[in-house]
Amino acid sequence: MIPKSFIQDLLNRLDIVDVIERYVPLKKAGANYVACCPFHNEKSPSFTVSQSKQFYHCFGCGAHGTAIGFVMEHSGVGFVDAIEALARSVGMTVPRETAAALQHKVAPDLYELMQTAARYYCGQLKQSPHAIDYLKRRGLSGEIAARFGIGYAPEGWQNLESAVPDYQDKSMLETGLVIANGEGKRYDRFRDRIMFPILNTRAQVIGFGGRILDKGEPKYLNSPETPLFEKGRELYGLYQAQKAIRAEGLALVVEGYMDVVALAQLGVEYAVATLGTATTPFHIQKLLRLTDQVVFCFDGDAAGRRAAWRALENALPYLQDGKQLRFLFLAPEHDPDSYIREFGKEAFEHLLGEEAMPLSGYLLRELSLQVDLKTQEGRSALLQHAKPLLTAISAPTIALLLRKEVAALAGVAQEELEALYGVKSLAAPRRQVPGRNLRPQRSLLRPLLRCLLARPSLAHEVPQDWMTEESDEATAIGALLAYLREQDTEVSTAAIIQQFHGTPYEPILAVVQAELLNLGDAGEVGEEFQGMLKRLEEERRRQRWRQLEEKVGQSSGSLQGLTAQERELYQQLLQQRLKSMN
Ligand code: UTP
Ligand code: MN
Repeated sequence: MIPKSFIQDLLNRLDIVDVIERYVPLKKAGANYVACCPFHNEKSPSFTVSQSKQFYHCFGCGAHGTAIGFVMEHSGVGFVDAIEALARSVGMTVPRETAAALQHKVAPDLYELMQTAARYYCGQLKQSPHAIDYLKRRGLSGEIAARFGIGYAPEGWQNLESAVPDYQDKSMLETGLVIANGEGKRYDRFRDRIMFPILNTRAQVIGFGGRILDKGEPKYLNSPETPLFEKGRELYGLYQAQKAIRAEGLALVVEGYMDVVALAQLGVEYAVATLGTATTPFHIQKLLRLTDQVVFCFDGDAAGRRAAWRALENALPYLQDGKQLRFLFLAPEHDPDSYIREFGKEAFEHLLGEEAMPLSGYLLRELSLQVDLKTQEGRSALLQHAKPLLTAISAPTIALLLRKEVAALAGVAQEELEALYGVKSLAAPRRQVPGRNLRPQRSLLRPLLRCLLARPSLAHEVPQDWMTEESDEATAIGALLAYLREQDTEVSTAAIIQQFHGTPYEPILAVVQAELLNLGDAGEVGEEFQGMLKRLEEERRRQRWRQLEEKVGQSSGSLQGLTAQERELYQQLLQQRLKSMN
């Protein structure tokens, strides 16, 4: 690992404006710099860079990060490479022993080893008539097998021994190519399987999927999570598909390796597959950076439907007005592979165009199928079920339309639904710059989070019992405080962004940091913060009072149910309330 302190030093030394200007010309606009976003197509600039806070944010597509994040995204390099390049540009050296240790861990040799294994499996395929025969039976052409680097891991326990430099080296375990048994004896993970190499977008082999020939369990064996391979972040076939995705303006997400390969063979080259996992927020963000349209095509069976719903849930926070997500369900007996082989490319693309359901339609259909809208209980349940879904959407137009529809289904007004959910109304005219998809929230914690991000040193003044509610803000604040309280030096906004990159808190922090961009440099943070603390304290007292009252109510108005401590507090709060009434 590169020490956190080095990353902080580096971020302090860099100027994000210089870094970005090497790739994208920036224009000064007020306190910030703007440009047309390099990560999505747009005509007017919503990509904003804050020099004082050292981060960028795109109000169009939500791209967000520090100088390090920018170089990674823009050049498609990994974290370590980005750090190395940026450090070099300001004459810093990445601490030596860590660089060496790191090289040992994630380093080129692991990639090389995977490449060696992939070459070996390809060579074996050529010599294995029964594997070739299997692929032929499934309709694969030699050309497509070569394009996807498909290979074959022969039968036997230690075949790789003859293929790699050192079978006993720990890199063999680190890449997951071998498994060690209880006595430490090693054997090949993949035996007698068709091998699908999984590439990253730089065409490096990071993992494998191995399919059994014909029957057996498990049908697909995948590489474990390794320093090279994180399933939730990778998509099978993305390297081969990325050009077509850009050209077609469309990405198709399917479930299986074979689906991707068959689709590509028959001319649908813009398909990728998740790797036996649910579609994650990373997948969605990755695809939405390449294109405005994503279609999920899942099998028509129960598992496919579950997968689709998970994809929908994970996509909601990342929806953007102007981008379109759709869902296509095939008949239960088909998957994309079997469908396109039976009916051809044209029929499949016709289905994509005609039958794929927009996300909103799919969401409303599923919600209304779960309940009986003819009854009051059913309508009330609808409002309950829809709440987490609707409040997760920050894209204003999509959110507005869906709120209207759900309200109509439940027979309430949109404003009533919004009041019920405790969200700011989208019906009232909003004082927001068009196209900025910030989610307004009434929570007290939002301003607290804003203060902390504007001036991280305030973390030390937040009392231990600040928590008054459970919300995204609350968990984010918890994590942020824990991090900030551990640091003994001043922490910059950029350091925070880097620290929480890739964590569940990233989206909410990004939204609030983006709000700060519009406020300019708030000198009054201190005052707002003191006001916040007071209000939080009041809120906590109110909460405590309500809890005590409830307890008292349960013991029919007597204080007997309270502990001595609670009784004292109760008396105290009662006094205060009486006083404030006079
Ligand atoms: P399917 O069972 O639908 O298989 O799994 P498939 O893709 O249609 O494969 P074929 O056509 O029978 O060869 C869909 C995906 O789920 C993951 C794989 O990524 C697979 O492509 N999977 C499935 C596993 O990881 N392990 C398994 O045992 C099964
Ligand atoms: Mn299949």
